[in-house]
Amino acid sequence: EKVVLAYSGGLDTSAILKWIKKTYECEVITMTADLGQGEELDGLEDKALSTGATKAYVVDLQEEFVADYVFPMFRANAVYEGGYLLGTSIARPLIAKRMVEIALAEGAQAVAHGATGKGNDQVRFELSTLALAPQLKTIAPWREWDLNSRTDLLAFCEENGISVPVTREKPYSCDRNLLHLSFEGGELEDPWSEPGPGTYQMSVNPEDAPDTPEIITLDFEQGNPVALNGQALTPAKMLAALNELGGRHGVGRLDMVENRFVGMKSRGVYETPGGAILQRAHRDLEGVCMDRELLHLRDTLIPRYAEMVYNGYWFAPEREALQAFMDKAQETVTGTVRLKLYKGGVYPLGRKSPYSLYNPELATFEKDEVYNQADAAGFIKLHGLRLQARQPFLNKIKG
Ligand code: ARG
Ligand code: SIN
Repeated sequence: EKVVLAYSGGLDTSAILKWIKKTYECEVITMTADLGQGEELDGLEDKALSTGATKAYVVDLQEEFVADYVFPMFRANAVYEGGYLLGTSIARPLIAKRMVEIALAEGAQAVAHGATGKGNDQVRFELSTLALAPQLKTIAPWREWDLNSRTDLLAFCEENGISVPVTREKPYSCDRNLLHLSFEGGELEDPWSEPGPGTYQMSVNPEDAPDTPEIITLDFEQGNPVALNGQALTPAKMLAALNELGGRHGVGRLDMVENRFVGMKSRGVYETPGGAILQRAHRDLEGVCMDRELLHLRDTLIPRYAEMVYNGYWFAPEREALQAFMDKAQETVTGTVRLKLYKGGVYPLGRKSPYSLYNPELATFEKDEVYNQADAAGFIKLHGLRLQARQPFLNKIKG
């Protein structure tokens, strides 16, 4: 019997590795995805093997992550509950997909993850697995074992020879990749208390950001950012460069209480410096080159799309069909945006597009030859007909 485990090298997944081996008496193969979390991945293979894995994969998924997951989601302008840019949500389907591929190649019967039974991540991992390889079992130790606290977990590690780092562990549950860094738990569990000094690591405090603004240009092709300041960059390099710029200027911080799919509210602190720039620039470009009705229809669908990603329905027919609509809507979203980064803000300064629908002749406040102002009178009159019809009853209705 073989199990493929999503392994970070941290305390939890090390304990899980041991626990699965003991409990299921099977081989454990680990899979560590490099999604640009910037943690030390050297030595991780040895660590997994010395903790009892029979084989350890470390896979660089950075370009695939940004090109095939982050960018499609940004083409859709996805935002969850008005703020969250879905940095963790979008990574889970890719990790699951890669685990499934390895499990099938290795002839494993199950996959395993270290997500708790209270969160969204378990749902995302497992819905993705069900969509791609329903014959695989999932092992979720946090839902199965009787280690109910941090203390129990540490005791288990000691008994099983897993070295516990001497430095006090960070009090937060964090998740980092090229798109974002998230913090949950610790003092954040009180929604009234301010994020402590251990939070916010990708970005400076806006107050401490440079007093001199920085001006950048971003080129888009069909909704994807392709060049920064005129220089073409691969998707992962683009996002990394935007993170650097945004972080330096305190861009992309978010502190919110959100609704988890499993039912409870939870408080999260997020840093998405590059994503925040990208989102602002992209929407600004759409203003000049996307048709009004298309843009308005698309905007009504953003919450639905975001919910699909948040809830773990990436490999689902409704997300795929909606993606086709979103991508069709991006056909003309090509052009350049010029932006100013300054103390936590992203301010568009200018935009241009070969598909620009902006007609200076039409828009001008100066004299023009194409628009007859007198036409507007009839337009307003007809649109006002039903409002006029209701007027006699207004007193009664509002009574
Ligand atoms: N609340 C966010 C989400 O559901 C972040 C989850 C962070 N996950 C983690 N394992 N620390 O997408
Ligand atoms: C977890 O419970 O594993 C992290 C939080 C979440 O998935 O929402």
